[in-house]
This record gives sequence, C-alpha cells and structure tokens, in this order.
Amino acid sequence: VPPRIMGDAPELDPAKSQNDLLVVIASDHTYVNVSILRQLAHGVVPGLSVKWVEQGFERPDRKEFLRFDDGIENLRNDSDERNLDAHVYVGPSDGEPEWCVNGSYLVYRKIRENVRAWDRMEHHDQSQMIGRDRKTSAPLSRERTGPRGMTPVYAHPGDAKDGPFNAHIRKVQPRRTGTDLFGEQDLSRRFLRRPYPFFEGIDAEGHMKTGLHFVAYMRNVTRQFEWVVQMWQTNPDFPAPGAGIDALYASGILSTVRAGYYFCPPAPKGEGDYLGAGLFA
Ligand code: HEM
Repeated sequence: VPPRIMGDAPELDPAKSQNDLLVVIASDHTYVNVSILRQLAHGVVPGLSVKWVEQGFERPDRKEFLRFDDGIENLRNDSDERNLDAHVYVGPSDGEPEWCVNGSYLVYRKIRENVRAWDRMEHHDQSQMIGRDRKTSAPLSRERTGPRGMTPVYAHPGDAKDGPFNAHIRKVQPRRTGTDLFGEQDLSRRFLRRPYPFFEGIDAEGHMKTGLHFVAYMRNVTRQFEWVVQMWQTNPDFPAPGAGIDALYASGILSTVRAGYYFCPPAPKGEGDYLGAGLFA
C-alpha cells in the first residue's frame, strides 16, 4: 500500500483504494474494452469479483488536459539505449524471488486536474509551471539536447536561469551529471510513464471532472518512484534551497484521489505456462 504523499486529496485513503488485483484493459476502442470487462464482471474467472472500474483514453498526439505534450521524455528501447530493459524490468540481481524476474512494478495514481484554474492562467505562467514552452514544448533551459533539442540541460542545479526550480519537469528529473551519495545517477531513477487522461462529466458546481490516470512501470518502487517524489518533487529545498514543491501541486492544480502499488508478473514463457504461475509453484 502506498504512503500518503503531499498533493494527495483529503479523501484519498491508500489502504481503501488499493485492491488485490489490477487489470489494465487497453484496445483501440471502448466497445472492445467493455466486452472484455463484461466477461470478467460476469464471473468468467471463478473467484474474481470486480470492485471498481476506471476509464481513460489516449490521444494520438499525446496531449493531455493541461494542453501540454506528455511523454516527450520517456523510456524507450532503441538502437543506442536499452532504457526499458535497464529501468522497467526486475533483473536477476535485484534480490527478488526468481519468479519476479522480467516482471515490473506498477504505480497507479488517479490525479484530478483543476482545469478551470489552469485555463485562467496566462500561457507564460503555465509554461513556467511545467518547465516547457506552452506552444513548442521546448524546455525552458538555455541549453538543450536530444532529438529536436527537446531534452533540457540544467548545467548547474542551483542556476535559476534555466527556468523555475519548482517547474514540474525540473522537480521530477534534475538531470545532474555524476552519481549521488548512494552511487545512483539521476537518470537511473527514471520509469516508464503510460498515463491515460480521463473525463467524468461535471460536478455539482458545474466544474469539469478531468485528470490523468498516472500509470508508471519500474524495477524498484523505493529507488525510483518514491525517491523521485519524496527526495525531489515534494522536497521544498530541491534542487536549491527555497525552491518549493512541484508547482503543479503547490498551486492545487493537481490532487491525487486514488493510489495503488501493484506487481505485473513476467509474460508466460510458452505453452503450459500462464501469467503469475510462479506465485503458485
Ligand atoms: C496530472 C498529472 C501530471 C501531468 C499533467 C503531467 C504532465 C507532464 C508534462 C507535460 C511533462 C513534460 C513532457 C515530457 O517530458 O514528457 C511531464 C514530464 C514528466 N513527468 Fe509528469 N505529469 C503529471 C504527473 C506526474 C507524476 C505524479 C509524476 C511522478 C513523479 C510525473 C513524472 C514526470 C517525469 C519523470 C517526467 C519527465 C521529466 C524529464 O525526464 O525531463 N508526472 N509531465
């Protein structure tokens, strides 16, 4: 069960929102998802009862309701770097039971977005809060790298000329060179983000109920997600004294209403094997 963290809505009770099993049903159309859910809800799997259902979607352009691209920086396996292999899957030397190897931890957070307050803000202020330009998505740092120059470079963690210290992307990935006291590089704390925006109509006051199902996959929750959140994102003195916590949470634009930690077993190895078989061996 995840701990409560800064930015959690008062109604969030992690122990109540965590369930035994999380099934992510994803396809190109809602009716396919509903058809699969229907099987589960109608008892096709003995002993399984559906407790609650969340719905989300993905936009082909990866924009979400704050109108920024989400996922510009994310992990990929490509010809140069095998980042999914390095940061997403449990490895044989991780001290986990053998059946966990090649599985992955899933961190889930249902995050509401106050889009009414967001839409009232100037584009300049929105850019400052994210750490990227609202129009071009370019990082606010003076120096940039990566494809199309979309990756920020923070030459010095305490240099405010590279954008506000409390901008979302600066708080969640400071990109310092070298290793920290624990021998870890900042970039080795990355995880795969697979978020789904959601829209649930309007509330009693006529406010849009929108947000993001934040879904992230990683090798180790403590070393990756919890470190990023506790040591950086909600640490008011990071990356420089007096920086403040992540601007998206400080301003109340984001608040988390559900949370859970899960483990995804490795894919079945072939005939006779099945998902999670190692649990029953
Ligand atoms: C509603 C919630 C959220 C929204 C709207 C949001 C939005 C964004 C946006 C627009 C970017 C910049 C584009 C990109 O680099 O991919 C970004 C990057 C990122 N976000 Fe979030 N985010 C949310 C929640 C979170 C949470 C809870 C975390 C957990 C710590 C997180 C971690 C990251 C990371 C690690 C990056 C990449 C930073 C980098 O490598 O430079 N985000 N997010």
